[in-house]
Amino acid sequence: MSFKEQFLWGASSAAYQIEGGFDADGKGPGIWDALGHKPGRIARGESGDIACDHYHRYQEDVALMKEIGLKHYRFSISWPRIMPKGTGETNPKGLEFYSNLVDELLAAGIEPMVTLYHWNMPYALFQQGGWLHPDSSCWFEEYVSQVVSTLGSRVRLWLTFNEPQMFMFLGYQMGVHAPFEHYSDEQLLAMTRNILLAHGKAVKVIRKALGDRALISFSPTGDTFVPAEETPEAIQAAYDKSLSMGEQFIFSNTWWADPVFFGRFPQEAHDRFGDRMISFSEEEWALVTQKLDFFSYNIYQSMASFGPHGLENPEYEYPGCPMTTANWCVVPECLYWSARFWSERYQLPVFVTENGVSLMDWVSLDGAVHDPLRIDFLARYLGCLKRAADEGIDLMGYTYWNIMDECEWAGGYKDRYGLIHVDFRTLKRTIKDSGHWYRRVIETNGEELPSYREAAQM
Ligand code: BG6
Repeated sequence: MSFKEQFLWGASSAAYQIEGGFDADGKGPGIWDALGHKPGRIARGESGDIACDHYHRYQEDVALMKEIGLKHYRFSISWPRIMPKGTGETNPKGLEFYSNLVDELLAAGIEPMVTLYHWNMPYALFQQGGWLHPDSSCWFEEYVSQVVSTLGSRVRLWLTFNEPQMFMFLGYQMGVHAPFEHYSDEQLLAMTRNILLAHGKAVKVIRKALGDRALISFSPTGDTFVPAEETPEAIQAAYDKSLSMGEQFIFSNTWWADPVFFGRFPQEAHDRFGDRMISFSEEEWALVTQKLDFFSYNIYQSMASFGPHGLENPEYEYPGCPMTTANWCVVPECLYWSARFWSERYQLPVFVTENGVSLMDWVSLDGAVHDPLRIDFLARYLGCLKRAADEGIDLMGYTYWNIMDECEWAGGYKDRYGLIHVDFRTLKRTIKDSGHWYRRVIETNGEELPSYREAAQM
């Protein structure tokens, strides 16, 4: 066996990180636009104001995606671009942009995949309480209805939220991402409640409009632990550890995925919060737990490997170990184990909606962008994913993060993830060597990837 013929090879982006046009054609401010400019918040005083200027250059970008041979492209909608104040009036120019983008993709033979919330809440709504406001799920529902009525007839793949773990942890607990807040556990619980309801209302809107034609999920992230050795005990220990909530409850896998897929929170959550725990009425549970069509997730690394006696393999973080510029260890096996663990737990086809590597790429003297480390990273990670395909795990697709170099949130422009290099002075695009290499992977449907044994050996 190998990757299925209809396996969706693709690449991803997020609105704030590539679009620019921060106030173009009636767009309203999002929390990153309004709060990110304060000194010290985004590295070197940078911002996503212009970013890759994808808003004005999307046609050129889609042509490059076509050259790379993408089968799908995942992008997010900027809520304040289409509803400048978050609710009420819509901005026709904003809707037109996404409509044109979808047409351009379809004409290029690339399937669009829409993320509805990738972290840029309209500032006007944040000023009214944001995700803490009891009406926030209704605001989201109104916004999603606009998107679905504009794009629904042409878009099949939908994701409600991108990584609730990360935007809550970084933005509302650590205070290092917009809106730069430090919420208490009580506030994080209230926010979780509203986000789960917002997810449910979004699913309902999409399903009502598109029925089973739509394939819907959301994209959580969280730690997947890799077994120290392939014994039943070590595998079980790594699986259990991947499911456990740990200290950072909002960062865990099960805090988000269990309510959505099983209609209940993990027991650990009840043990921890007791009568402070979130409660839903029966009707609300039904909303939160509607049928989803696949299990998608974002994954870049594994924290460490676990055996029957706990942490057994801390060698991922030895001095001088392979690391990305984001300081993430390179652990290719995590793609195999995550696919295996998540398909086993949630019994759905699996879709990797983000995976990639940040490096410091530049244009060489010969005018090309040589990024052998990204090619090696991809060969290894995809070689490990191929093992899951070979073993018959139901895999729907793989989405490289990011299609092009982008504004890395609070990190600014230093770390480059793209398959396409962007010179942020001139906005000139150059497909990197890895982009050309990925084209071959897509054309051959992964047939030439290394075996798991070779790929995992670092
Ligand atoms: C994911 C996000 O967490 O990882 C992306 O969905 C982000 O938006 C990517 O850019 C890379 O993360 P980082 O920490 O390098 O910014």
